[in-house]
Amino acid sequence: MNPTKSLNVSQTKQSRLASVDFDQLSFGEIFTDHMFVCDYKQGQWQTPEIVPYQNISLAPSASALHYGQAVFEGMKAYKDDSGQLWLFRPELNFNRINKSSIRLGMPEFPKEYFFEGLETLLELDSDWVRPGIGSSLYIRPFVFANQACVQASPSLEYKFLIICSPVNSYYSGGELKVLIEKNYSRAASGGVGYAKAAGNYAAQFYPTSQAMKKGFQQIIWTDSATHSYLEEAGTMNIFFRIEDRLLTAPASDTILDGITRKSVIEWAQHQGIQVEERPVSVQEIIEAADKGILLEVFGSGTAVVISPINGFSYEGTDYSLTEIQNSFAAQAKEAITGIQYNISQDPFGWRYKVG
Ligand SMILES: Cc1ncc(COP(=O)(O)O)c(C=O)c1O
Repeated sequence: MNPTKSLNVSQTKQSRLASVDFDQLSFGEIFTDHMFVCDYKQGQWQTPEIVPYQNISLAPSASALHYGQAVFEGMKAYKDDSGQLWLFRPELNFNRINKSSIRLGMPEFPKEYFFEGLETLLELDSDWVRPGIGSSLYIRPFVFANQACVQASPSLEYKFLIICSPVNSYYSGGELKVLIEKNYSRAASGGVGYAKAAGNYAAQFYPTSQAMKKGFQQIIWTDSATHSYLEEAGTMNIFFRIEDRLLTAPASDTILDGITRKSVIEWAQHQGIQVEERPVSVQEIIEAADKGILLEVFGSGTAVVISPINGFSYEGTDYSLTEIQNSFAAQAKEAITGIQYNISQDPFGWRYKVG
């Protein structure tokens, strides 16, 4: 893809690629040679640029550091065996970052800038993406307020960046035990739970670290008003399989409208699986577990794709799930990764060719 005049590209003189050990990647620590940057000033987005990956300088008074006006996205690029790069439903990430920005009082980003910038960046750093299931390039678009001013009001200046990090699978495949949370809340009705606002994640760190001390890897959040309906986990939406029905909470103002979640639902319906998108109570899940008809619990998200949950705890009682053959989780994961890596047919039109 040839960049148009609307995008300035300045390439690195010295690639860092040769120094990277792709077998020892720790999630999100290494970044590719280039990044995309665009500034918002005087009421408009300026000419976007691709520049060598580098530190950025900020005034200590930069607004995001004080008031958290910052949102982000998480997406991935996949490489097939012929070296072609693919994205998975990227329009949904684009729409979601603007939805998040609107909620945080920030300007929307132009679609042409996003797609031209992203595709040019991916083509420049294509050698950083390894083929093969599990390997991918994690893409982190983000926007933050950088006006040098500590007035508690929306910033007049913003920065939109895209940085990319080569990754292997997110979880190492060990046990995933989760705590159903009764005290802390992730999101409240009317709040910013549906946005990928930076502060939503900061607010989860302390409760999650408390849960980790008790031997859990994640928290399943419940609704803040009654703590009796299951919402989502740290960076995953959650599915429950009772007999042959799949249950998941509806995307609402407290739940992130996950792209993997949407894809699991569409895939399951296409398979003829009954999907119920409705509030799921802790009570019914515990009753199903007691009756032996809760067959699966799994999380869905870009980082993990699908992650089976082996056990959960509620009010001090532990429940465990037995691994089953040909689980919905395994089938969904195979179907989605097959599409992502251009291994299988894409009856849904989810795959997006880069370049
Ligand atoms: C809070 C939260 N829920 C769910 C998800 C899963 O969303 P997606 O499938 O779009 O990655 C994420 C990750 O983006 C998340 O941060």
